Amino acid sequence: MSVRVAVVGATGQVGGLMRSLLAERSFPVAEIRFLASSRSAGTLLPWGDDHVEVEDAWQADWEGVDLALFSCGAPASRELAPRAAAAGAVVVDNSSAWRMDPEVPLVVPEVNASELDRAPKGIVANPNCTTMVAVPALAALRDAAGLRRVVAATYQAVSGAGGAGVAELVEQVGKVGERVGELAFDGCSAAYPAHRVFPAPIAFNAVPLAGSMAEGGETSEELKFRNESRKILGLPGLAVSCTCVRVGVATGHMVALNVELESALGVEEAVAALARAPGQRVVGLPTPLLAAGRDDCLVGRVRRDPSVENGLALVVVGDNLRKGAALNAVQIAEALLPRLR
Ligand SMILES: NC(=O)c1ccc[n+]([C@@H]2O[C@H](COP(=O)([O-])OP(=O)(O)OC[C@H]3O[C@@H](n4cnc5c(N)ncnc54)[C@H](OP(=O)(O)O)[C@@H]3O)[C@@H](O)[C@H]2O)c1
Repeated sequence: MSVRVAVVGATGQVGGLMRSLLAERSFPVAEIRFLASSRSAGTLLPWGDDHVEVEDAWQADWEGVDLALFSCGAPASRELAPRAAAAGAVVVDNSSAWRMDPEVPLVVPEVNASELDRAPKGIVANPNCTTMVAVPALAALRDAAGLRRVVAATYQAVSGAGGAGVAELVEQVGKVGERVGELAFDGCSAAYPAHRVFPAPIAFNAVPLAGSMAEGGETSEELKFRNESRKILGLPGLAVSCTCVRVGVATGHMVALNVELESALGVEEAVAALARAPGQRVVGLPTPLLAAGRDDCLVGRVRRDPSVENGLALVVVGDNLRKGAALNAVQIAEALLPRLR
């Protein structure tokens, strides 16, 4: 079967990777359309040996699109995804707009592909990139011994905040990089150029506020981690606490996890369960640099957490643009193929 595909947000980091992955993975594309904001309309983007002109997504006629891969932010998705779905397309959306809608499946194919059987709005949601990195490991531990409580601390890369986040890190590294040894001794905020994307300087720094402040002192990213992991794992009452930290890393989100299991699971058994689970690989020292550009999430530092009964501690890391966004969306599209009209 061949599919008429639209990539919405095609000029962005995630959209660009989606374009590459569709080609690399030989997705059966009958026809391709690239869409973005009016700013990019008319731009030419490569596709195979040819180029495709970017359309303004707000002016688009969605007729004839079978599959629309969206990565253009929540406000645009809220308006545009229903237009594409009404015209008969199945939408796979990367933003937060639809993830917690009870009529929209939130899918990690290795964990809950069967949810794709019920998508009454014609929209399927892709999880937040931090949740995405942690969920395959959490699913493996859930299956091995049951999950009672999860405590997470994240170390999130700047590319998770879009191309503008990467540009801000690069600008700051350029401005203060050569002076960092000298500045490190007396604090150096004044030496940095103004920050726009992050709430504090991000180069050579760690900022414990990712996303925006939400109710009860938690951030939007922390709420997403709790709500989305509960929904994907099918454990609505799971106790989850998370602290999200943005770090001066380009790509690769790391999550330190402390889990309390329902029953005892030895470290060796846990490592075996994690190694068996699809989509991840157990390594000695998982780092963002090692994970960047790879499809698999990396798991390591698995050890007993002696502070609780049946406790385990581990570290997971994954490429937030790849498995955290574009790859998972394309994998959802692959799983949807038999269900497309
Ligand atoms: N970065 C990640 O790790 C990650 C992970 C999971 C999910 N996501 C989600 O994926 C989306 C894109 O992320 P990104 O990193 O690719 O961002 P990005 O590099 O800043 O690209 C944003 C894309 O969205 C388009 N866009 C922005 N506003 C639009 C509008 N009003 N109407 C139509 N198109 C619009 C942009 O088009 P123009 O070029 O014309 O401005 C561009 O193609 C976001 O929803 C984000 O939440 C990102």
